Amino acid sequence: MSQAVLILIKPDGLKKSLTGNILTRLSETKLEIVAARMVRVPKELAEEHYKHLKEKPFFSEIIKYLRGELHDRRKVMALVYWGKDAIKKCRELAGATNPEEAEPTSIRGSYGRITTSGVYENVIHVSSDEAEAQREIKLWFNPTEIIVDLYPTKDVVEEKKKVKVWA
Ligand code: PPS
Repeated sequence: MSQAVLILIKPDGLKKSLTGNILTRLSETKLEIVAARMVRVPKELAEEHYKHLKEKPFFSEIIKYLRGELHDRRKVMALVYWGKDAIKKCRELAGATNPEEAEPTSIRGSYGRITTSGVYENVIHVSSDEAEAQREIKLWFNPTEIIVDLYPTKDVVEEKKKVKVWA
């Protein structure tokens, strides 16, 4: 069954120049990239993304991590992959969440680490299931930024909204 999955290449992945490498690994899945953008992550977005972890002791650290405050790289590459069993395929390539438990040849096993304060710096995020994928994709992308129709949309007229256009 075709499904969508959100992938985030986190600031450590970008700082370590792993983008090309990670995309090459993900291309092994033969899935289609249907959206991609570089994001300077606002605090609200990071907190909403990890909202289910609000009570965890590492919550404030993962917010700083996702926002690039730990790596002096204030950006994340967000992508949506689409195709058959997309979540399973991407999670297999990513490896276990804990980089020390991840298969050594997986992306996290190859490039992840655990900091001295116990935070996983695991290079990429991959949605855990279809419900989470939908929630996350809607957080990180507008419908017009995705080249296929993943979820229902509606038209709204927004008045007096300030937008930036090319000068
Ligand atoms: S849960 O509830 O622990 O199963 O949550 P999960 O969905 O697996 O996501 C946990 C995210 O927090 C990041 N993180 C850590 N998790 C557990 N323990 C420690 N010490 C820790 N440090 C960071 C973990 O990498 C997950 O984020 P993503 O972006 O999915 O990798």
